[in-house]
Amino acid sequence: MFKPVCSVEELRDSTPFHFSENGRDYILIKLGNEIFALDGICTHEYAELWNGFVTEDVLTCPLHLSQFDVRTGEVVTPPAEKPLRKYSVKVEHGRVYVDI
Ligand code: FES
Repeated sequence: MFKPVCSVEELRDSTPFHFSENGRDYILIKLGNEIFALDGICTHEYAELWNGFVTEDVLTCPLHLSQFDVRTGEVVTPPAEKPLRKYSVKVEHGRVYVDI
């Protein structure tokens, strides 16, 4: 079910945007004209990925520097082994909706 999260204007390129819904944390990442939604907590240990950093299309965890593909959530660099869950995003009238 798509939930409204924020306006497109609140997102900055390559800067993780944190939001939570029903006690779960998520991030949005804008890359140019595309917006991706992923789980907000690292799959390795507990780290808040909105405090991580994005270079090109790779998200780096701030704790042990695992890297994830922003577009798919797949692990690019360990120690994380499991991918981040990815969620569908749509934009309507300047609002961002995520299917969570
Ligand atoms: S908690 Fe993210 S790499 Fe360890």
